[in-house]
Amino acid sequence: MTSHLLTGIGELVTHDPRFDGPLLDAALVAEDGCVAWAGPAADAPAADRRTDLAGAAVVPGFVDSHTHLVFAGDRAAEFEARMAGTPYTGGGIATTVAATRSASDVALRARLAALAAEARAQGTTTLEIKSGYGLDVATEERLLRLAREVTVETTFLGAHVVPHGIERADYVALVTGPMLAACAPYARWADVFCEPASPVAFDGDEARVVLLAARSAGLGLRVHGNQLGPGPGAQLAVELGAASVDHCTYLSAGDVDALSGSDTVATLLPGVEFSTRSPYPDARRLLDAGVEVALASDCNPGTCFSTSMPLMIALAVREMRMTVAEALRAATLGGAHALRRDDVGHLRLGARADLAVLDAPSHRHLAYRPGVPIARGLTL
Ligand code: NIG
Ligand code: FE
Repeated sequence: MTSHLLTGIGELVTHDPRFDGPLLDAALVAEDGCVAWAGPAADAPAADRRTDLAGAAVVPGFVDSHTHLVFAGDRAAEFEARMAGTPYTGGGIATTVAATRSASDVALRARLAALAAEARAQGTTTLEIKSGYGLDVATEERLLRLAREVTVETTFLGAHVVPHGIERADYVALVTGPMLAACAPYARWADVFCEPASPVAFDGDEARVVLLAARSAGLGLRVHGNQLGPGPGAQLAVELGAASVDHCTYLSAGDVDALSGSDTVATLLPGVEFSTRSPYPDARRLLDAGVEVALASDCNPGTCFSTSMPLMIALAVREMRMTVAEALRAATLGGAHALRRDDVGHLRLGARADLAVLDAPSHRHLAYRPGVPIARGLTL
């Protein structure tokens, strides 16, 4: 057993109910990768190794519960056109699918590794990664194999959009049949882009068929819902016990009611609204209704090409009126709950010693210093 003492922590956020908020002048001991002790630096026990952080703030490593990191190609021109007024409809996904299908494993793995390293360099220590840019059996399986090399939190998103050259009903049959069978061994989760407002995404009936098949194959459920307009995604997610419904930009009062009192987390992705110049979700309405909220990056080449969880926290505070504490909690504990994980997203005794170390005296700087790379991931 090896133990590691981190001391000189100017402010330590643990989300541990034993403590009344952040600890000042704190220390933390990890044993074999798990938190074994946290408290005032003056009371810290001895350990095999000791690192002094010289006053840095430490928070739980970010849990980015929604990313699409396995892809090839570039859609900067689509982004530029959108900033000039062309709205986002999901149509650009086909561009990424074409580039991804023709990319080698070596090229996809290199891009994926670079993005995962970029996320970690900004404090992310748990990553969910979706497929969804293959949309044929062989490529979807390939993307999930590659994602599995990086994380256990892999999600089958064959039902991202209906690709060119196949009828909708035939594609739903493919996704729920041979594609699901090929992908399930590499996936923990399944997701569907349930968006009646998009001509290429799936309506409520199609999404239900996809999710039920995935559940029968042993996968946990997630939903992309209510991104581009009102729709059945949020209530379908609640009805089927999905771990999370993501986007939640257009929710009705009935959707908020259904989410409150359910185990389905509402995952907000403010980088998408920023990068598509769309209205932000009403985070306050969700929080005030008692809905559990997570923040994630949704890093993808179309709607938000950023891996930065600190940016998501800054946007949540500035644009969605979350408090800094709420935003940090959503980016850590909220993400963990969206992945149904109890070993990450907090630094209670026994948690994984996954940290974000801040080049700043307090967690407030995550929102106060937008765009400045103050966070880095550290696993003890
Ligand atoms: O989460 N909404 C659907 N899927 C992605 C965007 C995919 C893309 O445009 O490439 C999202 O926003
Ligand atoms: Fe997404």
